[in-house]
Amino acid sequence: MGAKAAIQVNAYQILGDNSRPGFPFLSHQKRQKSHLIFLKLSQRRHEATELLAGHQPKLQRSTHVHATEVEHVFHMKGGNGETSYAKNSRLQRKAILETKPLLEMAIAEVCMSMTALPRTMVVADLGCSCGPNALLFVSEVICTVADRLKTFGHNPVEIQFFLNDLPGNDFNHVFRSLAEFHMCMAEEGSAEGGDQLPAYYIAGLPGSFYRRLLPCRSVHLFHSSYCLMWCSQVPEELLEGKYVNEGKICIGATTPPAVVKLYQEQFHRDFSRFLELRSMELVPGGQMVLTILGRKHRDPRTGELFTLYALLAQALQCLLLEGRVEKEKLDGFNLPLYTPSVEEVAAAVEAGGLFDVRRVQLFQSNWDPHDDSEDSNAVTGGARESGENVARVTRAVLEALLVQHLGECVLDELFVVFARLVAAHLEEEKTKFTVIVLVLSLREGRKEASVPRAPASVDGHAHAKMRVASEV
Ligand SMILES: C[S@@+](CC[C@H](N)C(=O)[O-])C[C@H]1O[C@@H](n2cnc3c(N)ncnc32)[C@H](O)[C@@H]1O
Repeated sequence: MGAKAAIQVNAYQILGDNSRPGFPFLSHQKRQKSHLIFLKLSQRRHEATELLAGHQPKLQRSTHVHATEVEHVFHMKGGNGETSYAKNSRLQRKAILETKPLLEMAIAEVCMSMTALPRTMVVADLGCSCGPNALLFVSEVICTVADRLKTFGHNPVEIQFFLNDLPGNDFNHVFRSLAEFHMCMAEEGSAEGGDQLPAYYIAGLPGSFYRRLLPCRSVHLFHSSYCLMWCSQVPEELLEGKYVNEGKICIGATTPPAVVKLYQEQFHRDFSRFLELRSMELVPGGQMVLTILGRKHRDPRTGELFTLYALLAQALQCLLLEGRVEKEKLDGFNLPLYTPSVEEVAAAVEAGGLFDVRRVQLFQSNWDPHDDSEDSNAVTGGARESGENVARVTRAVLEALLVQHLGECVLDELFVVFARLVAAHLEEEKTKFTVIVLVLSLREGRKEASVPRAPASVDGHAHAKMRVASEV
């Protein structure tokens, strides 16, 4: 059997089907190619399954696995259980409510900028996650568009929503909530006096927002909340061990300046790429509302989220002393995370030359998602309760990454210690996150960006391997 035939058989076996002729409508040559792509997909799926199962993949230290690790492993805690993101996303919900006036203005301006309102308005939420927040955003858009149509008497408009997140996201949880959501919206419609709400359609869109997601000039409004501080990967040099960030899991007060610079550059690269990609997908007159967990001061080491995660690093050090975590694993664990200042994001938008900043808003949010008080001295329900609340939301966000690197068995203890450390911190100082909201519109007369159209892999390694496979 020749090499090509052997590969065909393998492809069928990996797919668990050695009887189907497969792709009867393709020429022999194209069929060969399809099988190779299938084979490649199966290999990648296998790597991803190993990662999800917490196994150390064979390509353990290669840049390929690490660059794709965020995409394959990162997701909020799915389902509806006590530790799920769905039950622990009040912090992020507050941000969506806070930005509602800006969202309404953006929708109004998008509608006004179109001489004839399109029959279908396309709206994409990037990093929608799996909790009720995804549908909260959807309902806000539907109601705002309905109000506009009522006030200005436009022809009926339909809205197509795309809910995007990484493939590991529990999209099914969102889909299962849809029946109830449609009922609530129907009630809302009849309370408004009959058929007043626009027709809407909701589709899931798995994939990284650091790649192309949608066709050129097809989207009227992009929204993303509490996502863009997540980078596409941990800086390469840190992954490869050229630099170390001992005792930390992201930037901390004593992180070496060289490591801070690596994270800054990673964020800048990712955010600039995000802007380029979206500039191609937006229709002229389209807008983006981006809510990013940022920081108040210039020095990245003073970021409020980093202060919180320094306490998590401290809790991990406690487990290390008890011999519950291996030092090597801990030293190699860094989060792909950077909270920018408003100056940094504004400078990146300006440098890209693709968007105009229409509005910027900064607001603060207490660490404890259940503390709504403006009081900057005392936490509402007491420091202990606040510590536990903060631990729950942190766990819902980071659990998948922690399990992948450190294993499941340390988690309960880790978050008990972390809650205690947070409580002690809040007793000393009530700390708040700084949240940046940017409203951007496509710049007229911009130089069109030319990023590859296909959902191409970010890492050149994958391309190189694909070329080798198709030359067999
Ligand atoms: C803290 S959650 C916020 C979710 C939601 N927007 C909300 O307000 O509740 C961040 C989300 O961003 C997603 N995310 C992170 N990086 C991403 C990427 N490159 N592409 C798509 N989604 C991403 C995560 O999977 C996660 O669901």
